[in-house]
Amino acid sequence: LSAGSGEAIETAVVGLGYWGPNLARNVLMTPGMKLSGLCDLDRALLDAQVDLCPGAFATTRLDDLLDRSDLDAVVIATPVATHFELAKRALLAGKHVLVEKPLASNSKQAEELVTIAEERRLVLMVDHIFLYSPAVQKLAQMYHDGELGQLQFIDSVRINLGLIQQDVNVIWDLAPHDISIIDHILGRGPRSIRAVAPPSHYAGLTTMAHLHLDYGDDLMASVHVNWQSPVKIRHFLVGGTRRSALYNNLDQSEPLKLYDRGVDLVEGPEDRRRILVSYRSGDVLSPKIDKVEPLQNVMAEFSSCIREGRKPLSDGWSGLQLVRVLEAADRSLAANSASVEVDSA
Ligand SMILES: NC(=O)c1ccc[n+]([C@@H]2O[C@H](COP(=O)([O-])OP(=O)(O)OC[C@H]3O[C@@H](n4cnc5c(N)ncnc54)[C@H](O)[C@@H]3O)[C@@H](O)[C@H]2O)c1
Repeated sequence: LSAGSGEAIETAVVGLGYWGPNLARNVLMTPGMKLSGLCDLDRALLDAQVDLCPGAFATTRLDDLLDRSDLDAVVIATPVATHFELAKRALLAGKHVLVEKPLASNSKQAEELVTIAEERRLVLMVDHIFLYSPAVQKLAQMYHDGELGQLQFIDSVRINLGLIQQDVNVIWDLAPHDISIIDHILGRGPRSIRAVAPPSHYAGLTTMAHLHLDYGDDLMASVHVNWQSPVKIRHFLVGGTRRSALYNNLDQSEPLKLYDRGVDLVEGPEDRRRILVSYRSGDVLSPKIDKVEPLQNVMAEFSSCIREGRKPLSDGWSGLQLVRVLEAADRSLAANSASVEVDSA
C-alpha cells in the first residue's frame, strides 16, 4: 500500500469478546479500511459478529488469516497474556499490527515486538485510546500553550465495578489509561513509582491499588484504580500554578473543566518564618470539545501510519515504556510498596 493508493487496507480483528466488537465496528466506519477478517476461538462470538460484518472471512484459527497475502493489518483484542504471541505471529507474517493495551505481559516481549516491527518496517501501534480522545488532546494542548502554568499535581481516580481480568491485576488493566495520558501531556515517563495495594484476596490478584509516580521537577502523580467500587468515577485532575483542569470522561456534555482556582503559597519574610497563603477563586470554564469517538481517531491514525509509513503517536516504543512502568509497579508491590525506579531504554 502506498500513500496515494486508493486500495483499502484489508484488516482483520482478532478477539471478539467485550472490546473487540468496538474495534471491528470502527474498522468498518473508517474510510480506506476494509474489515476483511474476524477471528475468535469462540465460535458463537464469531458467528454473532459475522452477522454484523457481512463479507468478512471468519475463522477460529489465526493462521487462516495470516496466510492470506491480501490481508494488510491485524487488530488484536485478546487477553493480555496472548498479545505477545499473536502480535509476533502477525508481524512475522508481514502484517501491520494494532494491539490492545498493555502491549505485552513483560518488557522483554514488548522489546521483541518493537524490534521485529522495526526490522520489517511494519506499523506497530498500541491502543492507548485516551491519547485519541478530543478532551485529552485539548488538555495537552492547553498545558503546552502555558494555560495551566507549571504543574503541581496530577490526581487520577479510575474506579468502578470492573470486568475482573484473569491474567492481569487491576494495575495492568486500568492504569495504562492514566499513565499514558500523563506521559503524553508531559512528554516524558515517570522516573520511579510506589504502588500500594491490600494483600491480594482474589486468587492472588490485586483488585485495587494506589500508585504514586514521580515525574521529576517536583511533580508527583497519583493514580487510584479499583475493580471493586460500586460507583464509577473517572476523575483526572491536573493542578497548575495558573489554572487547574478536571477531565471526566463520564460527563458527556462537559468532559473538560478549567478552574481558575487554586492556592498560591509564598514564603514569608525570614524573621516570620511563615508561609503566606492566598486563595484564587475565579471562573470555571468548559471548553468546547469535539464529539468524536476516540476509537475513530485510533483507526484513522493506524490507517494513515500504514499509508504514510510513519510511526503512530502510540507506537511500540511508548507501549514498551508503559510496560516498564507496570513492571516497576509490580516490583514495588513485591517490595512492600518501596519506591522503585522505572527501567529506562
Ligand atoms: N482500550 C480500552 O479501553 C479497552 C477496554 C476493554 C478492554 N481492552 C483490552 O482488550 C483486550 C481484550 O479485553 P476483553 O475485555 O475484550 O476480553 P474478553 O475476554 O472479553 O475477550 C477476549 C476474546 O479473545 C478471544 N481469544 C483468546 N485467545 C485467542 C486466540 N488465541 N485467538 C483468537 N481469539 C482469542 C477469547 O475467546 C475472547 O472472546 C485486553 O487487552 C484489554 O486490556 C481495552
